[in-house]
Amino acid sequence: MSSDLTAPAAPPASAPVSPRLGEPLPDRLLDAAERLTREELREHQLGLLQATLRHAYDNVELYRRKFDEAGVKPGDCHTLEDLARFPFTTKADLRDTYPFGMFAVPMDQVRRVHASSGTTGRPTVVGYTENDISMWADVVARSIRAAGGRPGHKIHVSYGYGLFTGGLGAHYGAERAGCTVIPASGGMTARQVQIIQDFKPEIIMVTPSYMLTLLDEFERQGIDPRTSSLKVGIFGAEPWTEEMRREIEERMDIHAVDIYGLSEVIGPGVAQECVETKDGLHVWEDHFYPEVVDPLTDEVLPDGDNGELVFTSLTKEALPIIRYRTRDLTRLLPGTARPAFRRIEKITGRCDDMIILRGVNVFPSQIEEIILRTPAVAPHFTIQLSRRGRMDHMTVRAEARPGATPEQRDAAAAAIGKGVKDGVGVTVAVEIVDPETLERSVGKIRRVKDLRGQ
Ligand code: DLL
Repeated sequence: MSSDLTAPAAPPASAPVSPRLGEPLPDRLLDAAERLTREELREHQLGLLQATLRHAYDNVELYRRKFDEAGVKPGDCHTLEDLARFPFTTKADLRDTYPFGMFAVPMDQVRRVHASSGTTGRPTVVGYTENDISMWADVVARSIRAAGGRPGHKIHVSYGYGLFTGGLGAHYGAERAGCTVIPASGGMTARQVQIIQDFKPEIIMVTPSYMLTLLDEFERQGIDPRTSSLKVGIFGAEPWTEEMRREIEERMDIHAVDIYGLSEVIGPGVAQECVETKDGLHVWEDHFYPEVVDPLTDEVLPDGDNGELVFTSLTKEALPIIRYRTRDLTRLLPGTARPAFRRIEKITGRCDDMIILRGVNVFPSQIEEIILRTPAVAPHFTIQLSRRGRMDHMTVRAEARPGATPEQRDAAAAAIGKGVKDGVGVTVAVEIVDPETLERSVGKIRRVKDLRGQ
């Protein structure tokens, strides 16, 4: 079921080593699929969708049962819109069939597994055939080119290697893009800074929260991060705001672009922001078909409306995924730098990240925006939820910037409290703690500590 649309138009070796960022990607560096019209892409998608529904139904018991229960057959899909008649898949389905029950090919065709730990219970396990791994490398390579990466660049990968898809996903994509990979993985932060200084990579791929940890380490070692060789950061695996983009771009003098993905769909490389526009992430729709649904009514929403992102794979063999509920909140927008592919707006929250505090919905990203607008505090913060009597209570802890005076710290606490009250509509306690006291991220950050059940 592999697609032949991923080969770049020309061998990548002919590309210049040093891109002029901000300029559109030359045609010869676009994959064939990136040069399709929207209509051509939709036609291509329909054939792949029909084949995927058939593959899932014929080879995965869970899909057969769910389709039968819903009274639909793969042959009922005549248009892309017909997909809405098919049942959703959730993380619980993967957990219930743990570990390999949703694999659609015999185990001897599965070349690799990854797993995501999640917050509770069993991990979810995903599998890849050789073709799946190759398709994944293709979409990550395409993402790297969209971010400004070119053959000959060195890419420092600080996403964790292992069962998490971040490290190996970025790694294979960087190799496929003709780059030199520095497989640093997460942790040993002081050494990472030294390696960046010595090996001089142009690109870093890392979670935005670990980038902040690295930035602090540069400064701790007395190195101005703006003098480093890095030109582009490809940041994902967790939500991050425009304010965070500005913070990182200014402190590091790089372009910060967003990469999105999830293990159930493939890993990193489902959608990517183009460096020349930085206006949301183009979904690589020749492999992953997006829908946005109302999380409460399950109804498919028109493009432009906010809701929960749902994905159907179009070319995967080992783990075809049908209408997977990501829990990520965003909306679909028309393509810009890659006109055939729709964009998703930067994801700033998940359904399960939402805190309901005394009846008001609060997302950690809203707090992040306010913290990052407050000059005397560093971009490090945590949110603690507790119960006082019958009332829920939120404490925001933010770290003072080194050298902030007691007056500046008090003013910052007041400004954050007011910002949250005015912008979000809840009263929270704010504590400004000393520099270097909050725990640093080495991968995906967990900002919220919920003590309400204790
Ligand atoms: O985080 C894959 C990945 C690795 C993506 C490296 C990008 C870079 P999971 O561990 O399965 O996979 O977690 C997937 O992480 O449903 C989102 O909630 C969140 N997420 C991933 N990328 C972004 C992003 C990887 N760019 C879950 N913005 C997803 C916001 C993101 N959230």
